[in-house]
Amino acid sequence: MRIAHVTDIHVERLPSVGECLNKRAAGALHLYVLGRASHFTRAAQEAMVAAVVAAEPDLVLCTGDLTATATEAEFAGAAALLAPLRERFDWLVIPGNHDVYTDESVGRFARHFGEVAPVRVERRGAWDLVLVDVCHPDWLSRGWLGEGGLALLDAALQAGDRPALVALHYPLRNRRGERYGPPTRACSDADAIEAICLRHPRVRMVCHGHEHHGFRTVAPRPGDDLPILDPGAGGYAWLPERGRTAHFCVYELDDTALIGVERQAFDGEVFAPEKGGAFATGG
Ligand SMILES: [Fe+2]
Ligand SMILES: [Fe+2]
Repeated sequence: MRIAHVTDIHVERLPSVGECLNKRAAGALHLYVLGRASHFTRAAQEAMVAAVVAAEPDLVLCTGDLTATATEAEFAGAAALLAPLRERFDWLVIPGNHDVYTDESVGRFARHFGEVAPVRVERRGAWDLVLVDVCHPDWLSRGWLGEGGLALLDAALQAGDRPALVALHYPLRNRRGERYGPPTRACSDADAIEAICLRHPRVRMVCHGHEHHGFRTVAPRPGDDLPILDPGAGGYAWLPERGRTAHFCVYELDDTALIGVERQAFDGEVFAPEKGGAFATGG
């Protein structure tokens, strides 16, 4: 089975003044006054979609941040952009923190991309794909699964022995293999989520986004470290002078394990396999 993993596409539309009477005011300041909007471009987003179509995966997995501040216009834009992937391929998606940016935006993701649950298990081939939603509106951009969600995750992994891929938006560890931080931009119960994943040996890989410069790390496990993968932002502008560009991954899975990773990078015009192999060029 070949899974294309895309994340952090960040479709942006300038919000109206009326849409900025909340946390979105700070987001719009960052995006349109301090220039973060230029970090994501339609050229990269559209090239990413074309490259995933060309890769012909069995399934597309998206780990959130489809929008910048979760307005109706951004969700409509993201839905239109991603239509070729949703129409052609088996498509699984979870929201990111930017997709539930404000209290008033809650429900918008579900209307455009389908219902979400704290823990959802999808059977594909020999695998269980376990989708974990830890995102909530929060001024400090924190995520959490909570006691109830942690119990659901543990129970879901207890039920069965098929190999499992766990997907969530936030990283469990940083690129050096340490706990991810700072706490204001992280998942508060990442430790507990990872402990549950390690307790169930059928978990064979973890996929996430949120950190826009991708990386691959592991959670140590005796004899069988658990791979943790973030392709990096799929909508990132091509800014070679800053060492930034967009990426996505294609994972090759056999009936028991992850056996191959290809990472594609945007060169300003098209996506192509990363020079030197997946993650060889860093973020
Ligand atoms: Fe993001
Ligand atoms: Fe994020």
